[in-house]
Amino acid sequence: MSAPMPAASAAIIGGVLPLHLPGRPAAPHSVEGLWRRAGRSWSTYRSARGAFVDLLARLGPRTVWLPAYLCTTLADAARAVAGQLRFYPLDGQLEPDVEALTAAPGDVVLVVHYFGRPPGAGLRALAAARPDIVWVEDRAQALDPAVPPFGDVLLYSPRELLGVPDGGVLVGVRHAFGGSSGAPGPEAAELARPLLLRLEAEEHNDLWYGAYRASEAAMPSGPAPMSRLTEALLARIDVEPVARARRDNYARLHAALADLALFPDPEPAWVPLGLPVRVVDAAALARRLALRRVFCARHWGELPSDADAFAREHRLARELLTLPCDQRYGAADMDRLARMVRERAR
Ligand SMILES: Cc1ncc(COP(=O)(O)O)c(C=O)c1O
Repeated sequence: MSAPMPAASAAIIGGVLPLHLPGRPAAPHSVEGLWRRAGRSWSTYRSARGAFVDLLARLGPRTVWLPAYLCTTLADAARAVAGQLRFYPLDGQLEPDVEALTAAPGDVVLVVHYFGRPPGAGLRALAAARPDIVWVEDRAQALDPAVPPFGDVLLYSPRELLGVPDGGVLVGVRHAFGGSSGAPGPEAAELARPLLLRLEAEEHNDLWYGAYRASEAAMPSGPAPMSRLTEALLARIDVEPVARARRDNYARLHAALADLALFPDPEPAWVPLGLPVRVVDAAALARRLALRRVFCARHWGELPSDADAFAREHRLARELLTLPCDQRYGAADMDRLARMVRERAR
């Protein structure tokens, strides 16, 4: 008689070793530590859009207010679950027009920290005066805005800022929220492919960029669990050197390109995503720089709002280019980048 097969749920013993992660340091300054500090709950997802969709499904608001300047992915995901979507305008430096934000009690309002910069006093005063609205701070581009939260919920997208495979995080400030359920499956392992290709084959930009595009295209728009690798890295990455490099590099770029910079801040306390510059034709400048293997993102080439109703925002979308100033770089890189932009921005 053969031995009975163990139940499929019995824990596996032996076999191939998984990726070895170093022990979790007592890191009060880890990214997770910093982001958690502001809130009562910490809920993780595969993407920020998935986190936002889960939040909306839980709250069931009548109307969701989004800024007219936003990525289409988040708006499309919200549209699928929101009762009604409304867009609100912003000024030339992406400050929300608070007069136009005529939200009703129970509505959800999403406010973006553009390029890492927190919104100004007008918006913060409105948020303080209207606790009957659910304020969501979209910090997808903001590692650390260096000001206390004004929102009920903070939304993060770690792979915008750090070399991690995926991720969306909801931090509940005024209320606690649940998280996505279930364990990540085999598809979560594929998410690391673009990062590993870049790590091992930096020169093959066709390979890692192709893998990145494929990975982003496969990103589910609903709530799915964060990969274990991202969970582990967020608890281990020391936030301080990342923040310092971003601020130093931004200040150096800003000093060289102040006349093109979107924001006046020469040395921000907040941690920048990049240096947004305003040029006549951002797409054309991006193409000219790419010929020299300098790759700059556009946030964003396409907007989800109506182009006639929000002409100023759509014009900004054509003009803004984000120059990288992240933790990979130092002063010499920023000087070279500034020179190349200066020569090609005309
Ligand atoms: C401001 C902002 N919010 C939300 C998102 C969506 O993040 P994710 O791709 O993790 O869904 C992005 C990504 O581009 C973003 O820049």
